[in-house]
Order: sequence, then structure tokens, then C-alpha cells
Amino acid sequence: MNAANGMPGSRLGVLASGRGSNLQALLDGQENGELRARVAVVISDRADAPALERARRHGVPALHLDPGSPRARLRPEAETEIVRALRAHGVDWVVLAGYFRIVGSVLLDAFADRVLNIHPSLLPAFPGLHAPRQALAYGVEVAGCTVHLVTAAVDAGPILRQEAVAVRPDDTEESLAARILEREHRILVAAVNDVVGRPFRIEGRRVRWGTAAPAGE
Ligand code: GRF
Repeated sequence: MNAANGMPGSRLGVLASGRGSNLQALLDGQENGELRARVAVVISDRADAPALERARRHGVPALHLDPGSPRARLRPEAETEIVRALRAHGVDWVVLAGYFRIVGSVLLDAFADRVLNIHPSLLPAFPGLHAPRQALAYGVEVAGCTVHLVTAAVDAGPILRQEAVAVRPDDTEESLAARILEREHRILVAAVNDVVGRPFRIEGRRVRWGTAAPAGE
């Protein structure tokens, strides 16, 4: 918590399972000054996740923490370990950046309304896996991506940012996913800047923004 303005601070804990291009966008934003936050720790459920290597290359602590189960849903004991590690690194906000596990109440209670997720569709359309594939199969003309707050229901929390991507007639799953991914990188940095820079409250499903803290506080 930032004692000066009553808002949480701006240290991020990023959870990632794979490639880590969204993590990379945060690390690049941190280095070029676009991100008004710092990645304090990266945690993966997979020891060989390229995301861990990306973190280490930027001097960011990178941990493999066993999910405790082959299932998608983390075991509560594993979440307790993750929360302990996040707290040990002074984390204020948690970002799920391609974290292919379902988080539950242990983590969500510890970081209430402070867990963000990036999803490659315009939610509530196409939650779950392979969203660009679902979008193409459905025949939509507009796809996109969403950053939202994480709640107990998967891919269903209050929306922080969205961006639309036009589907082209010749799109494949790969080409559409690649164009969506470019937008993901932008809105993830923007959404982190939003939440660390301005207080907000949740009304129903809607995020209501307050006034930005004066510079320097
Ligand atoms: C992204 O498409 C993200 O929206 C989804 O998983 C993918 C992760 O990609 N949740 P990367 O690991 O950040 O490159």
C-alpha cells in the first residue's frame, strides 16, 4: 500500500506458463518507461517455461512453483505457496499472462480485485481455450482481446480494457492469433498503468474509475 495516496503500490507478480510474450511486453515497457510499474517476480507452473528465461534475462526473480496437481485448477496448498512467494517479493498486483491454471479463493482473497488476466477474445465471447480458433469457427467479423479482473468464474471478471481486431477472409487461427497478440501486448501495459495509476471501484460488473493520484505521490 502506498501510504501517501491510500492506493496499492505498483509491484507486479506475473504468473505465466509458456512463451511469455505478454510478460515480455511488460518487461519492455518497464525498460522503455511506458509501464508505470515494475515486475517484481515471475512465477510459473512449468520449470521449462520460456517466460522464466525471459524474466532472468531482465534480472527479475523467476520461480517454478509446482501446481500440485495435473489438473487445470491449482491445489489450495500450491496457491498458498504462490501467495507466500508473491508477498515475499512485495507484490501489489498479480498479472496472469498466459497462465494455464485456474486460480481459486486462496490467491483471490489474498489479492482481492488485484489479479488481472489477459484473454485473446472480446469477452464474454469465446472464454476458455483456443479463443481465436473459436472466433474463426463461429464466423465472427470482429475478434479481439480483453484484460479483466479475475474472479472465481473463469474469464468472467469485470473488464478493464478491450481492443477489437478485424477478422480477414483468409485468416488462419495462427494469423488471427498473431494480430490479436500484438494488441494484447498494448492493452496489457495500458491496463496495468490504469490500475496502478487510478483508484477504482466495482459496481456490479462495471469498473468505475476515480481521479488519478497527483504526480509524485
Ligand atoms: C495469450 O494469447 C493470452 O491472451 C492467453 O495466453 C496467451 C499467452 O501468450 N491467456 P504469451 O505466453 O504471453 O506469449
